[in-house]
Amino acid sequence: METITLQTKNTTYDMAISPVGHLLHLYYGPKTNCDTSYRLQYYDRGFSGNPYEVEGDRTYSLDVLPQEYPVYGNGDYRDNAFNIQLADGTNGCDLRYKNHRIINEKYSLDGLPYVFGNEGEEAYTVEIDLADDIIGLEVTLRYGVIPEKDVITRSAVIKNNSDSKMIITRAFSTSLDLLHGDFDLIHFHGRHEMERLPQREELNRSVTSIGSRRGNSSHQHNPFVIVCDKKTDEDHGAAWGFSMLYSGNFKFRGFKDQFGLTRNMMGIQDDMFDYPLEPGESFETPEVAMIFSGNGLEDLSHKFHKMIQNNVIRTPLKDERCPVLINNWEATYFDFNHEKLLDIAKNAKEVGIEMFVLDDGWFGQRNSDEAGLGDWRVNEDKLGGPLRKFSDEINELGLKFGIWIEPEMVNENSDIYREHPDWAFTIPGRKPIRSRNQLVLDFSRPEVVDYIFEQISNVIDSANIEYIKMDMNRSLYDIYSSVLTEQSFGLILHNYTKGVYRFLEMLTQKYPHIRIEGCSGGGGRFDAGMLYYTPQIWASDNTDAIDRIRIQHGTSFGYPISTVGAHVSAVPNDQTGRTVPLNTRAVVASSGTFGFEFDLSKITEEEKEEVRYQIDNYKRFWPLIAYGNYYRLHDPEKDTNVASWMFVSQDGDEALINAVSLDKHGNEPVNYIKLRGLEPETQYVITSVTKDDDAPEPFISDGNALMHSGIPLPIISGEYQAWQWKLDKIDTIRRRNEVDKEPSEYDIESIDTKETVA
Ligand code: GLA
Repeated sequence: METITLQTKNTTYDMAISPVGHLLHLYYGPKTNCDTSYRLQYYDRGFSGNPYEVEGDRTYSLDVLPQEYPVYGNGDYRDNAFNIQLADGTNGCDLRYKNHRIINEKYSLDGLPYVFGNEGEEAYTVEIDLADDIIGLEVTLRYGVIPEKDVITRSAVIKNNSDSKMIITRAFSTSLDLLHGDFDLIHFHGRHEMERLPQREELNRSVTSIGSRRGNSSHQHNPFVIVCDKKTDEDHGAAWGFSMLYSGNFKFRGFKDQFGLTRNMMGIQDDMFDYPLEPGESFETPEVAMIFSGNGLEDLSHKFHKMIQNNVIRTPLKDERCPVLINNWEATYFDFNHEKLLDIAKNAKEVGIEMFVLDDGWFGQRNSDEAGLGDWRVNEDKLGGPLRKFSDEINELGLKFGIWIEPEMVNENSDIYREHPDWAFTIPGRKPIRSRNQLVLDFSRPEVVDYIFEQISNVIDSANIEYIKMDMNRSLYDIYSSVLTEQSFGLILHNYTKGVYRFLEMLTQKYPHIRIEGCSGGGGRFDAGMLYYTPQIWASDNTDAIDRIRIQHGTSFGYPISTVGAHVSAVPNDQTGRTVPLNTRAVVASSGTFGFEFDLSKITEEEKEEVRYQIDNYKRFWPLIAYGNYYRLHDPEKDTNVASWMFVSQDGDEALINAVSLDKHGNEPVNYIKLRGLEPETQYVITSVTKDDDAPEPFISDGNALMHSGIPLPIISGEYQAWQWKLDKIDTIRRRNEVDKEPSEYDIESIDTKETVA
């Protein structure tokens, strides 16, 4: 059997062309150089039909064999990745191999985000043409390979070569048939203010299906999932990750078939999806990036982090630290004026904050969420003059200036809606579903996108803006585009998402120096598609540090810490009413793009001093936080006493450990944190970063002791205490002190080695 094999540094992906031209899946796992087609076994299976050409060979059935892109119409009764409806009302197709070619670069997509190869980095594409000549359908499967990063991407191009219309009713981007074994699915569910909570469940005979029907990738489910062996944990076992670069409706479906094969499929949501394809037209599916690791979930996460940082995020600013910012939202909500804003900015500057971000409420009649959305004209009364004057005032304080926008939305009480009511999604004759008093603009229409872009662009051009927070505050409904004669969910919703991407493309092209933060009521659109345009995303509208630990923990499986927007807010927290110490709020928020979201004039001088210290620490540790390997040291579902996580620099020389005590108990036992990612026999100096009388003295220990026995947390009174430790290899400190002649951070000789933990 002819095979097509993709090789990455550590993995192999193998396919075969069957004698009658079906593209079968053979293998995706640790690297092998063998022909893996021996894995296919053929038996006569009852009720599993056979194609005509195999001439009575009852052992060849597509109902049993693992397939590369399973379709309805060739004898596979299992849930499949593709279906098409023809003009005569019949369904299905039978795709056969035609051709394949290798191209020496990673393919791109038209108007959709994709993983790209960097200059000097090996990347290639394999395109496999499949066709059903009887109905005139062509499907090209595209595989993009970035060998060094173990990344394999998939997307399909579907072309109607017939002379009548076809309707695509399902077109997933990827399908992976795992021939045998027992697997779990880890997916990330949630809700507004509590996003991306991991849930691990068995993939079994019933279909497990998750996805979004809301027009954004959603708070409820995330387009990143992991399929893994039942025994896979953080540092052992096989895991396949799937990250869809798409911010609209998506779906994942996984199940075990009658003979124990596990099928995993991911792509654009097919519920209510009917994508019309006129003769000669084609449809390109969004991309799914896949990575396999045989070394557990943390290795898989590290690989996805690197892929997103290096091969998804594009902005030229991506290697610069995001300035520590103050955002006025939780400090003022809509209730602000010029004086109040300047006061917040002045207090922020005093503690070392670097940027002021003006949130919702600066435009039109936007004094509550009931009016003004869509009217992108500065409210000069509120800002005390033109935006330029205000941004100058902020700049004069020594702060950069950023601003909030929500381009896709409109209030009915706005000038733009009064002028163009047909620009919002509403179904004629029906009252629309309102959400946060707003409707959604029809971004599937280029003229609407262009108009909004022009309005917002005028504002940007009028002032010195260096940061934009781009929000999206409701789910889509009442899908109806008033310029189409034939309404189609597939067409409108997909073109809407492409419209959002076009808006972002124009914004990033025109303003490459502006850093954009994605947002959708917090983390309702936290996906790799958005990260192609925005290097960071506001992770959640929930700023409660204890809830944030869980949100940030879940987010870390698929997304790097450098992308996680995280702020310190006031206590009692506005979302939960919980009171958490300032140090703990800062420790949690510093595992992200650090900022503040409350009125710093309301805190004491002592607290201001603490904030200064926290900001200095963040600046000092940022390279480690952003580019170090992230280790989840606890599981919030199981560990209710302590949460902990750490960063280890890529060269392994230094690490930062973070721990937060959760539940308190009487007469409690000591909690130990077992570290990971260290060199077993190397000696490290462990120093407390936390300014606290109870903080343990510096001590020396080796990787073995730290990883197998751990370090003890002090028992102190009160819930939600936090600690941070810095770890440095002794040799690195000596080198710094002796060779680099850097000022000595540690006096190693004075540290009592007998106090090491063993
Ligand atoms: C969303 C965002 C918040 C804030 C408000 C403003 O909820 O997630 O951070 O910007 O909108 O309306």
